[in-house]
Amino acid sequence: MMDFNTKNHWNKTIYKMWAPVYDNFFNSGKFRNARKRVFENVIFEKNKKILFVGVGTGADLEWFNHLESTVIGIDYSTEMLKQAKNKFKDTPIKFLQMDAQNMQFPNDSFDLVIGSLVLSVVQDANLCLKEMARVLKLEGHIIIFDKFSPKGKNLSPLTRIFRPIIMLLGTDIGVKFESLLEGNNKTLTVQEDEDVMFNGMYRKIVIKKSHH
Ligand SMILES: C[S@@+](CC[C@H](N)C(=O)[O-])C[C@H]1O[C@@H](n2cnc3c(N)ncnc32)[C@H](O)[C@@H]1O
Repeated sequence: MMDFNTKNHWNKTIYKMWAPVYDNFFNSGKFRNARKRVFENVIFEKNKKILFVGVGTGADLEWFNHLESTVIGIDYSTEMLKQAKNKFKDTPIKFLQMDAQNMQFPNDSFDLVIGSLVLSVVQDANLCLKEMARVLKLEGHIIIFDKFSPKGKNLSPLTRIFRPIIMLLGTDIGVKFESLLEGNNKTLTVQEDEDVMFNGMYRKIVIKKSHH
């Protein structure tokens, strides 16, 4: 495993390379359909504060009406943000460069926090989920679209072989969502956990924050 700063630095480099072509892979075909599935039943209420963590090129932003809410997207990569800013330049969406593992927002700031394909990318997914929960208001929701290792199973030998190689491309195929939740389960309750793509490898998870 790389250390914290090395991994952040590596992600910056790797997502600089991904930025110009990212949407061709992860916002088309199966991925686009999966995103549609994740967001089509989400009711985006008016006048809410919504945070997109690791917003990337803004692939998720297409799926709701951003004029009715205050929307902020954060990302660590200048180049990914540049793509999003360019696509959504005629909207009031605010884009900020920020580390998802150390957000510059006060506690209880957002009604909805969305994290697509980001817990599998940051160095410390546990810290990232903690931050998502910290900036979320009580009774607020987190929506996660990401790939996790299968529930209740050990990583397959193939996954173990390819994990370090795929990690170099900027993502981890071996994150266990259930372990992440363990560290945060005093305030977080899973309300939905649905297979959206590739036999359950990619899931939609909806979490609610409530009192301890
Ligand atoms: C696989 S992309 C997902 C982008 C977008 N959410 C989507 O669904 O297409 C991962 C994103 O996380 C960003 N990222 C990586 N490390 C980060 C960090 N520490 N803080 C914030 N964003 C980070 C990358 O720059 C990249 O844009």
